[in-house]
Parts: sequence; structure tokens; C-alpha cells
Amino acid sequence: MGFGDGKVVDIHTHMYPPEYVKILESRTSIPLVRSFPGSPDPRLILLDTEVPILEEAEAAKARGETPATIPGRPLTKHYSSLNQKMHFMETHEIDISVVSLANPWLDFLSASEAGPIAESINADFSRMCEEKCGRLFFFAALPLTAPRDVILASIAHVSSLPYCRGVIFGTSGLGKGLDDPDLLPVFHALADAKLMIFLHPHYGLPNEVWGPRAKENYGHVLPLALGFPMETTIAVTRMYLAGVFDQVPKLNMLLAHSGGTLPFLAGRIESCILHDGHLHSAAGTKPKKTIWEVLSSQIYLDAVVYSDVGLKAAVQASGPEGHERLMFGTDHPFFPPLGSDEEGEWESVTWNGAAVRKAFGAEDGEDSEEGKKVRGVMGANAVRVLNLRRDGCR
Ligand code: URA
Ligand code: ZN
Repeated sequence: MGFGDGKVVDIHTHMYPPEYVKILESRTSIPLVRSFPGSPDPRLILLDTEVPILEEAEAAKARGETPATIPGRPLTKHYSSLNQKMHFMETHEIDISVVSLANPWLDFLSASEAGPIAESINADFSRMCEEKCGRLFFFAALPLTAPRDVILASIAHVSSLPYCRGVIFGTSGLGKGLDDPDLLPVFHALADAKLMIFLHPHYGLPNEVWGPRAKENYGHVLPLALGFPMETTIAVTRMYLAGVFDQVPKLNMLLAHSGGTLPFLAGRIESCILHDGHLHSAAGTKPKKTIWEVLSSQIYLDAVVYSDVGLKAAVQASGPEGHERLMFGTDHPFFPPLGSDEEGEWESVTWNGAAVRKAFGAEDGEDSEEGKKVRGVMGANAVRVLNLRRDGCR
């Protein structure tokens, strides 16, 4: 991409290590991996909206037929291969990637298996980072379905791993969402260990909201374009209303997809609080910080929003130095190009890069204040915020 002398850093980029794929292959309910006649690659089936199509495809397969619609998405080598990740980085001139396990992480594991599996998945990520010293860092996966002492031990462990820069979190937390008071010790431990939480959606909204035509006609557009961002927005707003940011002032979060719709709706959240009789009554508690204060001090946003319009809102919502709180990402290996070779350029990358340039009205490498902001979002912010330096690489 060539952003002047600055490094290009991708902070939103996923992998499923082979061990995780094996777990998905062994499962009978989502998330799972299945093969179907008519599809060269196995299929990765993740979302609730995909279940009806999965069931029809399983029934067709059982009858020895090719399913009319193949469920999910092709599980290509892009999901698990380190070489492929490096190839993708070379193709798009990405210097450093902060990789994370993709959704739904370890959310579906039993209490007893989560701890050991988290340890071995995090060891896989550590090994990959070590092998590509300085080019790769990672957000670790936590065993959130395990007992609290196992979760806290995992936080202590990952904070000692040299390439770990935070943890990836879904919105379910311990099962009751991120405003669950039982999560406070986890948030305190993460804040004390200076580990960023990368908050990422998976569950979306209930299927009914998409209407009866969705299954046949709209593919994955509604849950991914709207369900994911709303899920993130709701999760963070619940944390905010529960006073988590007041109680854990050192907690830092990086929100996927530019915070969902949070930048756009922050004013409305403030207004609803101001006008809420319950929150103003003796029985109610209002957050101490405004949502704007939280956005400019404890929240960072990725730039995975594909348009300068959303990006400008994200920068403005993030305070006077908002351009320093935004970080470029790709969401690789999701959203591969459909009309061209996956080994080549991905629109999901070029669109996000173009959106950053357009949002600041600056070209690559421009020696101006705006050019500097572009370089910040494209990489310098991530290097500074996540301390993406590693000396002694061979
Ligand atoms: N992007 C993700 O990270 N996960 C999905 O399931 C789809 C898109
Ligand atoms: Zn993602």
C-alpha cells in the first residue's frame, strides 16, 4: 500500500489454528465444519442464521443429493495457514499483523476443557509470532467458560507471553454479557496486566429481526453488516451503563468495526441518560463519566468500516485526538474477493485503506498533518498503543 515511511499494521486479522479446526470438525452443532457434495472446500458454519440452510443441506447429503444451497463459507487455507497469512501481508504491504482467534473463540467449550485448550491455542499463536519475529503479535483467547481461578491464571499466563498484546473477547462474557458484576475481577486483572481487550461480535441479533425473506434471499448481509455492529454497540453500552469504565478506569478496549454504531449513537445514549427518570431517581445509578469521555480515554476503534463516512464519525467520536485512537484492520480471512483470485488483492483491504485516505483527504506518504494522521491510522497508532516492537529478531 505504501504509506510513506510508516509501517502498515493490521490489528483485525484472524486465524483458526489447525487444532481449533479439528475441534470444529468433531462438532454436531454450530460452530462446525462440514463437507458437502458440490463444494470443493469444507464449509465453516458459524452463525445462527446459517442453521436452517445447514439442516437442509445435511438432509440432502443424507439422501445422496447435492444441496441446493451450500451453507456457511468455504474453509480455505487462508484460515489456518501461516504461509497464507504472510502471503496476504506481502500482497497488501502489511508490515505487522496482530492476529487473533476468530469467532466464536472458546465460547462453546465445557468448563473443564476450556483451560487446557486455551493454553494450547495461545501456544500456537505464540509459536507463529516467534517464527515471524517482529512481523506478528497476537491477542490471546481466554477460557471464559472455565472457573474464575482458571480465567485469572490464564490472564497471568498470557501476560507473560512475549508477543501477546491483549485478549480477544466476544460479547457473552461469562454467559450473561459484559455488564455482569462477576466479570469485574477479570476486567481488573486485564487492566492491571495492561492487556487490551479486543471486543468482537459473533452472536448478532435474533434471527426473527431479519424477516421471513432473509433465509432465501439476503445471504449473510443482514447479520454481518447490521447484526454484528449492533451486538458490539449493545455490549459496550451495557458495560457503560453498569459503570464498568468508572470502576475499572485503566481498562482499555479496542472495538471491532469502528465500534459498531457507537460513534453515531453516542449522543443519543447521552440524551437517553439525561432524560431517564429511573437513572435520576434515588434508586438509579448513572455512569460517572460521559460516553464521550470513555470514547476518548478507554476505547480505541478499528478502521474496519469500509467508508470514509463511518471513519469520520469514528475519529470525531474519539475526542480531540481521535485520529490517534483509530487503527487499520482487514478482517482477513473473512470477506475474500469473489470475482478474482484470492491470492491477489482483496477489496476488503483496499476499501479500508482508501477510506482512511479519503477520511483525512491525504495521499500516501504526504508530508502534511493529514498525511501524518493517515500514517497513524495505518500503523503508527497501533505500534505506539500496542507496543509492537520486538528487538533481537534474527
Ligand atoms: N468476520 C468475522 O470476523 N467473523 C465472521 O464470522 C464474519 C466476518
Ligand atoms: Zn473479525
